[in-house]
Amino acid sequence: MFGLTANRLPQSPNRFLPLSLRCLITAGPTREFFDPVRFISNPSTGKMGFALAAAAKDAGWSVDLVAGPVSLPEPDGVMVYPVVTAAEMHRQADALFGPSDVLIMTAAVSDWRPKATEPQKLKKDGQGLTIELEPVPDIVSALAEERRTDQFLVGFAAETENVEANALDKLERKGLDLIAANSVAGHEGAFGSEQNKLIVLGRNGFREVLGPASKAVVARQLIDVIARLVAARAAS
Ligand code: C5P
Repeated sequence: MFGLTANRLPQSPNRFLPLSLRCLITAGPTREFFDPVRFISNPSTGKMGFALAAAAKDAGWSVDLVAGPVSLPEPDGVMVYPVVTAAEMHRQADALFGPSDVLIMTAAVSDWRPKATEPQKLKKDGQGLTIELEPVPDIVSALAEERRTDQFLVGFAAETENVEANALDKLERKGLDLIAANSVAGHEGAFGSEQNKLIVLGRNGFREVLGPASKAVVARQLIDVIARLVAARAAS
């Protein structure tokens, strides 16, 4: 799509190009309830998304952060929109996407949700419980369908195997410009960790490895990559 490779990208003289961008970031897990007090979710802590929000703000961008349930302080100068379920995240992201230049989808959206939510707390009866799940619509794919060509879409891919091949498949399938892949296999697991290593993959063979380093450092590097790619596209 861009016809760019890493070594043909314009390098910023400072760490960030002086681009004033509006950025929408999603972070954290979602919760999908099957009764008023029980839900399915995942171990995402939201740290990477919050670090990206802080790094984007430091780069001079205006940042909207749609956050699932997390226990993190709000980054200074960032508009935070708390949500709980994938449906709420979808609605909120949809409402903020139009004026955004960049979307970074770090949220670990639940892939399934209970087909029905009981209005009252389920009683234990000593028996097992079977819950029927349905797929959750893919938020970033839906946003990609309504995107303008000047918007830049970044996804994340947490993989346990074939990290790059699976991430490239998601890049295509979800209509993204860039995907940040990390291994969540065994000791390399990124959930909740302070450290991260990302393999950033784009169109036409773009590939950069960020880290391993703290999530704050990797976040600044990823914002820098996005700024360079957005600037290169605007200049082309
Ligand atoms: O398919 P998978 O969940 O691995 O894809 C991860 C990417 O897709 C992330 O950017 C995530 O935020 C996004 N996603 C989404 N809606 C879903 C599931 C994932 O936007 N229902």
